[in-house]
Amino acid sequence: MKEAIALKETIESHILSMNLGERKPANLYAPMQYILALKGKRIRPILTLLAYEAAGGKDVEKALNLASSVELFHNFTLMHDDIMDRAPVRRGQPSVHIKWDENIAILSGDALFAFSMGLVVEDFPDKAAILATEFTRVAMGVCEGQMEDLDLAQTTAVDVPAYIEMIRKKTAVLLGGCLSMGALAAGASADLADEMRQYGEYLGIAFQLQDDLMDAFPPEGFGKQQGGDIIENKKTYLYLRALETASTDQRKRLEELFSQDGEDQQAKVKEVLEIFEECGVKSDTQDLIEEYFQKAVSLSGSLSGKISMNSLQEYLGVISKRKV
Ligand code: IPE
Ligand code: IPE
Ligand code: MG
Ligand code: MG
Ligand code: MG
Repeated sequence: MKEAIALKETIESHILSMNLGERKPANLYAPMQYILALKGKRIRPILTLLAYEAAGGKDVEKALNLASSVELFHNFTLMHDDIMDRAPVRRGQPSVHIKWDENIAILSGDALFAFSMGLVVEDFPDKAAILATEFTRVAMGVCEGQMEDLDLAQTTAVDVPAYIEMIRKKTAVLLGGCLSMGALAAGASADLADEMRQYGEYLGIAFQLQDDLMDAFPPEGFGKQQGGDIIENKKTYLYLRALETASTDQRKRLEELFSQDGEDQQAKVKEVLEIFEECGVKSDTQDLIEEYFQKAVSLSGSLSGKISMNSLQEYLGVISKRKV
């Protein structure tokens, strides 16, 4: 869609014009520049700007720092997430903690977080308190979700509701926050912003389910190590659904494989993928993804009475068909 592509380019140049890589000390700023220059889909700032416009915001230029703040925040979470997930590759290139080291990735991530907080309120001084509160709520949610993600990898007592709540927090809370903050910046009421946040959360749950599916069955150019979630014993929906449909032997084997650490990782990934295929988890996951996209679509019905949802709905269609 034309509008999202144009917004992506605008955001891209705005972020790169910050020239973070020129600051000193280089070991703090170069990784920030590096991860931002690896680009990515820029879904979060696009959603923020679309929400701003949908809620009646007229000055897109003025909303660019706010939109960039959610992208910088996202990139901070990726730097730390790759340490936690022991992920060697990000956007097709070495992760920051591999290219530099873990201490640098921790500090550089912290600096990116701090920098992103400054951008949130920069251009909306009259809405600083409400935007800062929303941003803080998002950041706390992501930390809680990321902790739950690690906790669930350590236990066998995981069910689908616990997994959905975990991905809601680690991923969907931020997408929801993009919608609510974009709307609030445009002057939306708290109730309207909340409804838009809910729309973004449904979208975000679908988005993380897609990510989990692609982690196991990556499309060309996905840019991450295949089976990273399997290696790290992540109890994704694919795993939970496989347990539901597996034979007794398969279930025993899956549970055994998901309690290992440091064994032959490639053999483990291969065996788990075979069981996933045999249990038909791919299409079951696709069905659940569709369910969450539809929850967002249903909400857009009531939102359409108040604001123009066309561009957001169109962009939801783009995300639902994403290839990487
Ligand atoms: C990756 O997010 C982390 C998740 C929440 C799944 P994206 O898939 O949006 O990553 P980039 O920014 O496009 O690389
Ligand atoms: C990431 O989830 C969520 C956050 C970064 C907060 P994942 O761990 O699945 O994301 P990827 O697959 O590494 O991008
Ligand atoms: Mg990860
Ligand atoms: Mg993770
Ligand atoms: Mg993932």
